[in-house]
Amino acid sequence: MKIQVLKDYGEMSRAGAEIIAETVRDNPRAVLGLATGATPEGVYDVLVEKYAAGEIDFSEVTTVNLDEYCPIEPSDDQSYRYFMEKHLFSRVNIRPENTNVPMGNAADPAAEAKRYEELLASLGYADLQLLGVGQNGHIGFNEPAAALFAETHLTPLTESTLAANSIYFTDRAMPTEALTMGMASILRAKRILLLASGKSKHAAIARLLEGEISTECPITFLLLHPNCTVICDRAAYEG
Ligand code: PGA
Repeated sequence: MKIQVLKDYGEMSRAGAEIIAETVRDNPRAVLGLATGATPEGVYDVLVEKYAAGEIDFSEVTTVNLDEYCPIEPSDDQSYRYFMEKHLFSRVNIRPENTNVPMGNAADPAAEAKRYEELLASLGYADLQLLGVGQNGHIGFNEPAAALFAETHLTPLTESTLAANSIYFTDRAMPTEALTMGMASILRAKRILLLASGKSKHAAIARLLEGEISTECPITFLLLHPNCTVICDRAAYEG
């Protein structure tokens, strides 16, 4: 695992975007595994700038997102589909049919999880998977637990995640479940790029650096990956 500690959120975002841009320059047909949340917003802004400057072409890129609330309509302004359209897809030349997010409004979430995993397999999984991390160490919505699921599945959200994300649901209760790639779906990516910014992520980063793998802190499973880069800002690294 390579760890890079940069000054702040802006530097982290630029460095993360550069790795994604290089991946697409090396392979214009790359499959990018993408993430939502406050952490990657800056990366998407830099990617949009690079696209506007003619430095990156998304026309042959395919994307697969990590997770989606369930139940939620894709058009809901708190859905991860909506987030991706707003922050990236509508701002670059990616083909809508090449973007994939689990369907949070699927009538049968278990069938949707199976469909999504089969889609990932058919694409050969991500060439590069971008990840944030939860304050509790979750990756995607693989929450701390006695056991983790390997493949895409429906999961209840923990109290920590509900507390962290309910700030976005100002006018209503937030969904209490989500569809998420599993730990194996994530670890099958050829390369992983995890970004962490701010003091609230320090505990999770510290657990990762301790080097012990535990289902109670899912980020530690990244220690098993042969090509994982972690970019933190000073606050996440030092606490
Ligand atoms: P955040 O979420 O980027 O909004 O902090 C990360 C996560 O929960 O995985």
